[in-house]
Amino acid sequence: MTEAPFTPRVFSGIQPSGGLTLGNYLGALKRFAQAQDAGVETIYCMVDLHAITVWQDPEKLRHATRELCAGFIASGVDPEKSILFNQSQVAEHAQLAWIFNCVARMGWMKRMTQFKDKAGKNAENASLGLFGYPALMAADILIYHATHVPVGEDQKQHLELTRDIATKFNHDYGVDFFPITEPVIEGAATRVMSLRDGSKKMSKSDPSDMSRINLTDNADTIAKKIRKAKTDPEPLPSEVVGLAERPEARNLINIYAALSDQSVEQVMRDVGGKAFSEFKPMLADLAVAQMSPISTEMSRLMQDQAEIDRVLAEGAGRARAIAAPILRKTYEIVGMVGA
Ligand code: TYM
Repeated sequence: MTEAPFTPRVFSGIQPSGGLTLGNYLGALKRFAQAQDAGVETIYCMVDLHAITVWQDPEKLRHATRELCAGFIASGVDPEKSILFNQSQVAEHAQLAWIFNCVARMGWMKRMTQFKDKAGKNAENASLGLFGYPALMAADILIYHATHVPVGEDQKQHLELTRDIATKFNHDYGVDFFPITEPVIEGAATRVMSLRDGSKKMSKSDPSDMSRINLTDNADTIAKKIRKAKTDPEPLPSEVVGLAERPEARNLINIYAALSDQSVEQVMRDVGGKAFSEFKPMLADLAVAQMSPISTEMSRLMQDQAEIDRVLAEGAGRARAIAAPILRKTYEIVGMVGA
């Protein structure tokens, strides 16, 4: 655990790179809303500077940022209780990222699997920003001295790097200034898989729309996607070990557990022995009941863009009030005149 004097503070971010999925909801948004009510300060960010590490159409980026803000609020994040803003409005993120570019080592960055996945075979042609992405992510977190970061499992390696950067900074300058952040990767749905292939992560970039549930899908679409989800011919097992070689069954059970706030074991006690023809309608009903109000609320919020922009600007002001003194102190520690 992070030692005193760091007061517990939660930070997390989502890229506005077009479209939120059930994976983002269960792995992140739903848990953000829960953390907000647990008595700690919560700071949530639309990371637009991260999104442009691969080219984004400017108009679409603006739209996606506002839609993401609507997604946060519709999922239960309350801008009165949490600080909600977009990254580019708080310049301190990018300023601290530069310092961290000088702390992080090339060897550490080269090991990042997300860079390898995203850059693919054409790494020479990837942007420098995509390579440096994890240093900006560390800055997002540490500019608030955040101690806890709720994320899905795919972000684990980046959070380990954040700890490495904080440790090296503290060591190199002989201070105990940045906290060693705890990743919070919890619950039944830390890795929601594609509905078409249980070995692949559910993702907005999958070419098949049937592979995912989008937060903007209506009730009919949600039910249809679950009805058509890939399964296997066996009935559901009653114990977790029975899911070991059955990725699609495991994924649907995990989704059911996360949506209904139950443990996987509890769900299996109830649905063990059922055929998919019986289980899928149960899951579809549950998903529709939980998800379709979110999509309705998102469209309602998107009617008033001025209000969304106001929320983001107000959140940015509150975020800056925390970030500015931490950046100033960082500059002082590293030896900048005038800090
Ligand atoms: P991003 O935008 O890809 O995803 C946002 C959050 O959603 C989670 N997630 C999932 N969880 C479970 N199952 C899935 N299929 C699934 N897909 C996505 C992600 O784990 C994440 O929590 N690098 C981050 C954004 C970021 C950030 C930060 C996060 C930038 N700075 C600082 C935390 C703290 C990203 O690309 O997430």
